[in-house]
Amino acid sequence: MHSTRKVTDDLIYVGGSDRRLSRFENLFPIPKGVSYNSYVLLDEKTVLFDTADESISRQYIENVVHALNGRPLDYMVVQHMEPDHCAMIDDMLRRYPEAKMVCSAKAVGMFAQFYGTDVAARALVVKEGDKLSTGEHTLHFVMAPMVHWPEVMVTYDEKDKILFSADAFGTFGALAGNIFDDEITFDTTWMNDARRYYANIVGKYGVQVQALLKKAASLDIEMICPLHGPIWRKDLGLLLEKYQKWSTYEPEDKTVMIAYATMYGNTENAANVLAGMLADKGVKNIAMYDVSETDVSELVAESFRCSHLVLAAPTYNSGIQPKMEAYLSDIKALNLQNRTVAVIDNGTWAATAGKQMIGMLEGMKNMTILENTISIKSALAENQLGALEALADELAKQVNG
Ligand code: FEO
Repeated sequence: MHSTRKVTDDLIYVGGSDRRLSRFENLFPIPKGVSYNSYVLLDEKTVLFDTADESISRQYIENVVHALNGRPLDYMVVQHMEPDHCAMIDDMLRRYPEAKMVCSAKAVGMFAQFYGTDVAARALVVKEGDKLSTGEHTLHFVMAPMVHWPEVMVTYDEKDKILFSADAFGTFGALAGNIFDDEITFDTTWMNDARRYYANIVGKYGVQVQALLKKAASLDIEMICPLHGPIWRKDLGLLLEKYQKWSTYEPEDKTVMIAYATMYGNTENAANVLAGMLADKGVKNIAMYDVSETDVSELVAESFRCSHLVLAAPTYNSGIQPKMEAYLSDIKALNLQNRTVAVIDNGTWAATAGKQMIGMLEGMKNMTILENTISIKSALAENQLGALEALADELAKQVNG
């Protein structure tokens, strides 16, 4: 049976949610699931905006067939060719032989790569600023390369002032009937997942997200229909403000995140002692994570949120403990910038992790590495408490100042 909802009088939500998938892109844990949004516009011409992941194919087909209610499909707007949205394109093209695929030139090439067939004869290739009238509605195409892939475009419906934003303004999390931001409490229930989605999926492309935000600022937008998560029709400013910060790598909260790797609890102990000192000095909302226990996607998201990072890790095989190294590689790949970082290392005979962590941090943009580093020899020693206190002082002054 279909499970659709009306977005406006002539726009129907035909997407669905997957609560079984354990990892998005087979990489990021999604304990709350994920939605794959898609929309049908019933104008003089009919339009389908993107498709869905094949995991929800049965529900998806029911929804599209119901929404079209026997009408042919005239246009399928393909904004993004990642398989979480393009998996059903081939099926739709076969099911609706009259439909034209409206997309960027790059998407045509990607279609051939994914499906092994040439869709050029059925493609209506659009470029920046092109418009398509469907009757009462005029769709305006805006290129958004690298948000999140190079072929991405977004679409603005001039009549209803709706931005179909592709992956932008999306989030992890399944939808449960409530598909609009004013039907859920996004800030408290969804924001952590939205940040984790942004930081890990498009975090690397801050410059390109900024370019899209500037284009969007010239449009009169009353509703944002993303490909994941709720539709924004009430508090658009909430996520726009976050996107402004995330895409310019500006921290949201002035506080300290301590991420530690520990083998037998000795490096963890130093992290605990430092956290207590920071709290004594008035630092609030300190976040602390064991990098072996917390998924790296959460560590990345928290690093996008917090202004100051303390990274503590033992030396392992003459290198950095592997989970810490993976986290550092990730925040580097995702272009994290503008953070103040303190480093603590540990080693029973040759502590070199600190030096190597600093080396990785120095390869990142606009990172301030505190000179006050601490090197533990197996376990924190009494005579190192002064140095730890000095580090806590420096961090507290910056955070509280
Ligand atoms: Fe939701 Fe980049 O795909």
